[in-house]
Amino acid sequence: MRTKRSRSRAAANRALALSFRELTVSQEDRGILRRFYEETYRPAFPQPDEQEAVERLEGYLAFKARGGYGPNNYHILIARHRDRPIAGVIMDYLAQPNAGIVEFIVTAPGWRRYRLGSRMLRWAERVAAADARRSLGRGLDLMLAELEDPFKFTDDHAYPDPFDRLGIWDGWGFRKLDFPYVQPALSRVQRPVTHLLLAAKPINQALREHVPSRVVERAVHEYIRWAMMPLRPAQSAEYKQMRRYLARRRAVPLLSLRAYLGRVPGRDLHVHEITGARDADLSRVTTLYTSAFAAGATSIRSDAFAALLSRARRDRRYAYHLWALRARPTGSVGGMASFFTLPGAGFGGYVAFGPPLRGTGRFGALVARIEEQMVRDGLGATGWYVECDPRGPQGRIFRKLGFHEAAVTYRQPALPGREPHPADAPALRLMYKEFGRVYGAPQLPQRALLSALSWIYRAVYGIERPERSPLFADARAQITAMPGGLVAWRSLGRRVNHTLARR
Ligand SMILES: CC(C)(COP(=O)(O)OP(=O)(O)OC[C@H]1O[C@@H](n2cnc3c(N)ncnc32)[C@H](O)[C@@H]1OP(=O)(O)O)[C@@H](O)C(=O)NCCC(=O)NCCS
Repeated sequence: MRTKRSRSRAAANRALALSFRELTVSQEDRGILRRFYEETYRPAFPQPDEQEAVERLEGYLAFKARGGYGPNNYHILIARHRDRPIAGVIMDYLAQPNAGIVEFIVTAPGWRRYRLGSRMLRWAERVAAADARRSLGRGLDLMLAELEDPFKFTDDHAYPDPFDRLGIWDGWGFRKLDFPYVQPALSRVQRPVTHLLLAAKPINQALREHVPSRVVERAVHEYIRWAMMPLRPAQSAEYKQMRRYLARRRAVPLLSLRAYLGRVPGRDLHVHEITGARDADLSRVTTLYTSAFAAGATSIRSDAFAALLSRARRDRRYAYHLWALRARPTGSVGGMASFFTLPGAGFGGYVAFGPPLRGTGRFGALVARIEEQMVRDGLGATGWYVECDPRGPQGRIFRKLGFHEAAVTYRQPALPGREPHPADAPALRLMYKEFGRVYGAPQLPQRALLSALSWIYRAVYGIERPERSPLFADARAQITAMPGGLVAWRSLGRRVNHTLARR
């Protein structure tokens, strides 16, 4: 039965000359698929490891026509303006997890932001729900999508950029399945893809907060089996690793994508970037810094921020950021962050919250926003370091956020403008975090840490020739003595083997 609403939508479609069609193996549909592929799909997904060849898409449609999918299904949904395909969804229905999975969704550039993407996704959900009724006689449980994790992937040419893309999926009701998802290597000559995340939209409200681990395991298994043919899950090392991780847990939490991006609804963090000494927020940030950090060997002089800003302006090899943070765009400055993006890694100098930001649960959001900035700076950073006082609570706080402490006795170099330290320079914890969600100890090559340290000496401490510093030489000797070419990490004060990931 056609409702009033669907009649008015049909009228609007006619007026716009829009039509919607699911493709089959027919000659005519193959023509539509080829045109969609060349004009809309290929330009939107230029990465060769993410793109499917058009022959493979045709192959899946032919496999479907032969009844190959059994209780599962495969769909290519196309929207056209007159003859021109302007949007499409490529998706599967997987009976075992009872989930639809969007492989690709795309709207042609001139048609974006007219709600066509949202409309295509709702269509995909209806199609998956119909598959669920046909195969299992009940409603659909989940929609899934494999998305680029913007903290682990950069693409200067992508539109929308990977951070905005995740925001769009959040608006569509998707959340991150909180487990270490890796797309398996599709063949012996290809590599596993580690910059993706698996997102889920719970249709069955019982799955709103958590999805049972066995459902997630089935989803991964069936996705590999049906969408990555001819790869078999049992042959895939990445699948086995995910299965082991999932077997140790009853359920996988669903994380808000917006919160993952550091944009928690109701807990805004307004960032003002201070770029020069004349900025009125500079003195506010300095006051906040002085009240948060007691003066001492590890703290810097109050005029040092202006000096860091002008030094970074002269040296284009790295970026320095000084942020004033507010709960409301025009409110008082309630927080500050001073950090560096160096080639290959970032460095967090100082972060502090005072009233009204302190104790409001915004620290995780600040960490995400700093990481976003470090990614956007485009210097190849994939993680960042902080130094912290072993006597204070910071080590515990950073550990909870995913930082790991390097198993070195790390002595802080002299701060710019201070007398050189004697041999007993303060010993600090040197902690490191990979960007994004962390599921275990990082596999960090020693040369990456040594390169980061020499940049920290140069950019943060103003020591142009780190190799001449006895403190640097001491750190280097400890790091290169670690076994296996990788950095070893300390777990709660003890040294751990880097291969024993804290999972
Ligand atoms: C992602 C994509 C499919 C969205 O298509 P679309 O037709 O523009 O989608 P909609 O118009 O329905 O927009 C959906 C929401 O995202 C928002 N949005 C769209 N583009 C945005 C952008 N560049 N920045 C911020 N928000 C954006 C819209 O405002 C809308 O939000 P609202 O519902 O609150 O108003 C389209 O941008 C695209 O094809 N991109 C390239 C391919 C891609 O990235 N696919 C996704 C990965 S598989």
